[in-house]
Amino acid sequence: AGTTTAGTTAEEPPTLPTDRHTGCPFDPPAELTALSDQPLRRLRYADGHIGRLATGHAAARAILADPRFSSRYELLHMPVPVPGMPAELPPAPVGDITGLDAPEHTRYRRLLTGRFTVRRMRQLSERVEQFTTECLDAMEQAGPTADLVEAFAQPVPALMICELLGVPYADRERFQSQVAVIFDQAADAEARGGAYAALLQYLNELVLAKRAEPTDDLLSDLTTSDLTDEELAGIGGLLLAAGLDTTANMLALGTFALLSNPDQLDALRADPGLAGQTVEELLRYLSVADPILRTALEDVEVEGRIVKAGETVTVSVQAANRDPHRFPDPDRLDIHRKATGHLSFGHGAHQCLGQQLARVEMAVAFPALFARFPTLRLAVPPQEVPLRERSNIYGVISLPVTWDEE
Ligand code: HEM
Repeated sequence: AGTTTAGTTAEEPPTLPTDRHTGCPFDPPAELTALSDQPLRRLRYADGHIGRLATGHAAARAILADPRFSSRYELLHMPVPVPGMPAELPPAPVGDITGLDAPEHTRYRRLLTGRFTVRRMRQLSERVEQFTTECLDAMEQAGPTADLVEAFAQPVPALMICELLGVPYADRERFQSQVAVIFDQAADAEARGGAYAALLQYLNELVLAKRAEPTDDLLSDLTTSDLTDEELAGIGGLLLAAGLDTTANMLALGTFALLSNPDQLDALRADPGLAGQTVEELLRYLSVADPILRTALEDVEVEGRIVKAGETVTVSVQAANRDPHRFPDPDRLDIHRKATGHLSFGHGAHQCLGQQLARVEMAVAFPALFARFPTLRLAVPPQEVPLRERSNIYGVISLPVTWDEE
């Protein structure tokens, strides 16, 4: 209320609603979805900056498609304070292409897409089946209870990133244990920082090893480009940061959502051919990577409103994915709906580079999990499942599950 096309406000703009689990752990904050009739409203940022909040699907999509909105970290304002993060962000570290604009971004992006080939994706999808089976075997042996995050949701994507980067088998345990600390929501900042530094050091060593003796993987492929060792290690770190936590949380939260919607789970069990569209609907319904931030480089008109040069826009993926104008009955998980067009992988120049890989991982992992454990269920009441409320990737901290032994 009170917002005019000239961009003046009659009242103090609100801050970003973040309390996501009012009632249902899968729903966006009620205050956020209540804004669906104000698709691009003013928002007060953590540092006092007055920018915008895009909740409408059309507005969100238009902003993400428009190169007049920058991704450069140093231009962004944070909608909510992030512990340990300075108010003014430094530019993206070497290799982190998510924080770059054209033409720098375009150069890296071309190099990378050229290496995410159909052949490599096919090769990886065969490996997903193998890793999934191995994790399920181990889980079954240790059962009949497990933390699904630790036993399944985290190791499957981590092994896939190892495979993509060509981490040798002997180094996987070292790699996995550092990854586990980085993504451990309970670990303190120092332990996580230490593990991250150790992992970057490891990636530096890995780049040198691939240069000396290339193997059949993405990192070795990239050593034939003109990228420096530092750039290669940075890109390795980006793939890890972008590909692991996202997929792991989709697997764990997606399992939680399916267990909470038994009619949908039964439909998937009855017809595993629905796996692809189930994945798409879970991506829409859960929106784990949220929000996406951009800053206007010049005055831009979006859906009849002016976003002024210098204003940061918080693109609420979760609100856009629940926009009733785009997805009828948006709060219903419905694996039969056509969920394509959701913004869970972003949109435009930065749209997720690993989306095909992520889709394959999920389309293999969900049916395999439910086929192996036909009686899989939560081992605690649903309201006791700990949620990742403070993280920029939403999900569960752990998911205690149990099943009947044969
Ligand atoms: C970018 C989500 C899996 C690699 C993005 C963006 C989103 C996203 C929303 C856009 C960010 C922006 O516009 O600022 C997800 C989700 C995943 C997933 C929800 C899992 C379900 C993966 C995987 C990989 C990956 C498996 C790699 C193996 C990347 C990279 C970018 C990216 C490199 C940056 C692209 C660029 O800036 O041009 N992802 N992602 N992602 N993702 Fe993913």
